[in-house]
Amino acid sequence: MKEKLQSIKDEALKAIEAADAPEKLNDVRVKFLGKKGELTAVLKSMKDVAPQERPKVGQLVNETRASIEKVLEESKKKMERAIREEKMKQEVIDVTLPAKKNMVGHRHPNTIALEEVERIFVGMGYEVVEGPEVEYDLYNFEKLNIPDGHPAKDEQDTFYINKDIVLRTQTSPVQARVMEQGKLPIRMIAPGRVFRSDEVDATHSPSFHQIEGLVIDKNISFADLKGTLEVFAKELFGPETKTKFRPHHFPFTEPSAEVDVTCFKCGGKGCRFCKGSGWIEILGCGMVHPHVLEMCGIDPEEYTGFAFGVGLERIALLKYEIDDMRLLYENDIRFLKQF
Ligand code: DAH
Repeated sequence: MKEKLQSIKDEALKAIEAADAPEKLNDVRVKFLGKKGELTAVLKSMKDVAPQERPKVGQLVNETRASIEKVLEESKKKMERAIREEKMKQEVIDVTLPAKKNMVGHRHPNTIALEEVERIFVGMGYEVVEGPEVEYDLYNFEKLNIPDGHPAKDEQDTFYINKDIVLRTQTSPVQARVMEQGKLPIRMIAPGRVFRSDEVDATHSPSFHQIEGLVIDKNISFADLKGTLEVFAKELFGPETKTKFRPHHFPFTEPSAEVDVTCFKCGGKGCRFCKGSGWIEILGCGMVHPHVLEMCGIDPEEYTGFAFGVGLERIALLKYEIDDMRLLYENDIRFLKQF
């Protein structure tokens, strides 16, 4: 009996040693100590043992059980510790690893240029307003002194939604909308997208952006217009910048002008950038036509004003020396990141 117990114990210890997972230890427990296990079988065979021997054998069985249990328990603890350590090793956070980069894109040159223009005019007390991109023919043309059949309508051939509604060709309709509200005086700029049925090339796109400007008050003169746009040009292109007002025609202003600035690249000497002339055209402007004021409910005897319209892309292309407008619409992050 003694040898039997010793061999059960040896076998159990061997099995424990061979176990490489907690489940295997459990199998060992069942096999040797369980209800149908080998030690229990020994206890069950006690009836064959002489009665005076039974307490001794019983004690031996208990000792064997205890020693197997002890080793089992130690082994289990050791195994669990090893598993825990392994897990901790795997879950360790390396704070020196470079962080995952969040790709958030980049501000567009148009946006940067617009924010610059807004900063300049807001600094002079202007409000920034917006108007609809899908506009009534009435505001886009009629109220700006461009009646049906006017040749200026051809110049700005656009996309018609129906006979009365167009994708606006200019931001100038915002002038009419703001004047109609009747809150005077007015000092506003209106940036936004405009549309023309133009072919795409290095300087044209069927969709681009303008910034409209409008000032209406008592005693506003051409001198105010000149002074304002001179400050604007100097702020935008540098303090040495000179401006030149060339007579021009726009249906909704009288008199009208186009404004050139001295080339910021060559300072006016003439270079590739300004095509040798020393000047670069940047905007159209003029005194708001009395008939436009009247159509928008303002008395031209009491109020006068000036207006201007700038191409946003033109400013961005000039300021950041980009030589092809199409680059602005591709939204290639490698291009955008340079500004
Ligand atoms: N709307 C004109 C255009 O798209 C630009 C313009 C010229 C706007 C003169 C004005 C202005 O407000 O006074 O060609």
